[in-house]
Amino acid sequence: MRIHLKIWRQAGPNAPGKFVDYTADHVSREMSFLEMLDVVNETLIGRGQDPIAFDSDCREGICGACGFMINGIAHGPDPGTTVCQLHMRRFTDNDRITLEPWRAKAFPIVKDLVVDRSALDRIIQAGGYTSVNVGGAPDGNAILIPKNLVEKAMDSASCIACGACVAACKNASAALFASAKISHLGLLPQGQVERYRRVTAMVERHDAEGFGSCSNEGECEAVCPKEIPITNIARMNREYFKAMVVTRDL
Ligand code: SF4
Ligand code: FES
Repeated sequence: MRIHLKIWRQAGPNAPGKFVDYTADHVSREMSFLEMLDVVNETLIGRGQDPIAFDSDCREGICGACGFMINGIAHGPDPGTTVCQLHMRRFTDNDRITLEPWRAKAFPIVKDLVVDRSALDRIIQAGGYTSVNVGGAPDGNAILIPKNLVEKAMDSASCIACGACVAACKNASAALFASAKISHLGLLPQGQVERYRRVTAMVERHDAEGFGSCSNEGECEAVCPKEIPITNIARMNREYFKAMVVTRDL
């Protein structure tokens, strides 16, 4: 296949950026999207040109490193799929594909398609943990947890912190990310002690990082590669409200 690419190039955080056209020839349908970009980069390096910068690590959809906009959709056209799991068989000969970095005030551009997502780490640092001495691995039956809660907590824990929800949101809100982490810990018995302190600290850090508020558009849920449901945001808002009431009564 021959693929026509229009890719955002930006040498650094403060450099001006622009779209640059490239043509990828001899693209195999079996290639992953990132392998196709690897081949484009090998050609650029061979010509002595600067390769296109993009993030990736596991290339198995589990680490959250990859991610950019493909034709205006975060992670591309396949639902529940990271960029690294997208394959070129999804495209046809002579397709035109536009690639852009995540665009959000809280995600400054580092270079080309790479953005700085450390704001998400700082939300986790604010409260995305349990302060308990876990010691050795506990007996699986020592703390009994209802199955429906375990499954909700595990589904929330599958968030890979990729930032696609932020990129897709017109408010650049990280509410889906923050709420997944808050649900993951807040639903389990081990997370109860710090439950209200956690939601308050994480929501306040979210806002301080420059992410916008949720206005229930649902774009985050639509692009999330782990299909985290927007109901987590409703749970986060309830938790935050309860935290305000509990704190007021102290
Ligand atoms: S909620 Fe989904 S889209 Fe957002 S960071 Fe987590 S995995 Fe990525
Ligand atoms: S490279 Fe790890 S999720 Fe895509």
